[in-house]
Amino acid sequence: MKEESKIALIGMPGCGKSTIGKMLQEEMDLNLIDLDEYIVKLEEKTIDDLFSIGEDIFRTAETNALIRTSNLEGSFIVSTGGGIVKKEENIKILKDNFIVVFIDRSLESIYEDIDASTRPLLKNNKDALLNLYKERYDLYKAACHIQINNKFDINEVVKNIISEIKVYKGKKS
Ligand code: S3P
Repeated sequence: MKEESKIALIGMPGCGKSTIGKMLQEEMDLNLIDLDEYIVKLEEKTIDDLFSIGEDIFRTAETNALIRTSNLEGSFIVSTGGGIVKKEENIKILKDNFIVVFIDRSLESIYEDIDASTRPLLKNNKDALLNLYKERYDLYKAACHIQINNKFDINEVVKNIISEIKVYKGKKS
């Protein structure tokens, strides 16, 4: 029988969670849940709408979606929003229920391809990204079981993640 594994991807907006999530989904033959999409489905509102009501409203919806996801049976991958580590409660849920993979990508690389205008917290403000990075880097490190540097070819990064997950599972069993 296939051993159960729930994998969570965390990291800054633009670090590659969505792309890497899709590649892992193919390679590992697992379902992929995009937590932002799940929030939109549960709340019947867009992320922008939730943010315009208030960031706290979005954060509550985010925690609810994470709890529901963590209660799902079976093996799957969840790609989280960059701010998931802002709440200690979320970090605990992640660590207790998932193999947490931090996609660590340099700010320079993120700057190169992020479309800042599509992300509510970064709209019209690139300095915001630097501030988020400073605020969150240590939180990502504390919240993860596996830290992967996304500075190589994306196929290499995916291979590294899969092999680190195997090592992690080996240590746990
Ligand atoms: C956020 C990141 C977004 C999304 C929301 C808040 C953040 O997800 O959850 O706009 O606080 O960094 P991505 O990391 O996928 O951009």
